[in-house]
Amino acid sequence: MSLQLDARQRAMLAEMGVRVWLPGAGRAADPAAAPAPAAASSASVQDAALPLPSPPAPRAAPTHQSAPPPASAAPGPRPEGVAAMDWPALQAAVANCRACGLCAGRTQAVFGVGSRGARWMVVGEAPGETEDRLGQPFVGQAGKLLDNMLAAIGLARHIDATTETIADSASQTSAGGQNDQQKSGVYIANVLKCRPPGNRNPQPDEVAQCEPFLRRQVALLKPRIMLAMGRFAVQSLLQTTEPIGRLRGRVHSYQGVPVIVTYHPAYLLRALPEKARAWQDLCLALKVFEQLPPDNR
Ligand code: URA
Repeated sequence: MSLQLDARQRAMLAEMGVRVWLPGAGRAADPAAAPAPAAASSASVQDAALPLPSPPAPRAAPTHQSAPPPASAAPGPRPEGVAAMDWPALQAAVANCRACGLCAGRTQAVFGVGSRGARWMVVGEAPGETEDRLGQPFVGQAGKLLDNMLAAIGLARHIDATTETIADSASQTSAGGQNDQQKSGVYIANVLKCRPPGNRNPQPDEVAQCEPFLRRQVALLKPRIMLAMGRFAVQSLLQTTEPIGRLRGRVHSYQGVPVIVTYHPAYLLRALPEKARAWQDLCLALKVFEQLPPDNR
């Protein structure tokens, strides 16, 4: 029986550390060397001979973010009107937020990254040390794994001129006005925008204070599918305390957007056998996305 794997599947297996025997290769092929597709939207990715993309270079914090408050700054009220903000106002509100104690310890708030025309949205937990320093989500080891997992299904966080300028939803819905890069892009954000000290778990009051920001990001982005990665993303989006193991394999919903639940990449780095399950989750997400009406992808 021959094992027919396309580039995407081989790249994902490589991420999981699974070696695959390829007919004619004479030895177990190392899928780490397998090509990754350039974009999910292209059906021709199967023969693509591209290497896995390296994680994007850290990006300087956006210039319109104001300086963080001094370490002694006491928590204050959350900015009002979050539910009606546009992207720049929302980003500025997050940068200046002092609604919980985490503002005192942050280098900067980590808003989110990716094309604002992206169809896919990934929601993680909270910035870690590297993210706090660089102002971008998922740039540490877990971020590298996340990027490679996304690359295996043809997605990338595009950090380019379009990233910060595709803010207007009217331009996102016109079929012709959306380029492939935006479509194959993914927007990445966290439940918490500020780093919990010592990378401790988010506290319920912190999640509650930050929740309107994520809610507004979703409303502005209008993703076609979301990946909730890890316990805190799942609990926050789905308002449940059920364990991930019981929520996986089903399609949930947040603001009408299909949500697929999966493990957090940081957990996958420690629990290698779970990578196979994470791959199943990505495949489910891809299937759900591909079953959307063509004019909604
Ligand atoms: N883990 C997360 O959930 N988010 C990050 O940005 C980094 C690590």
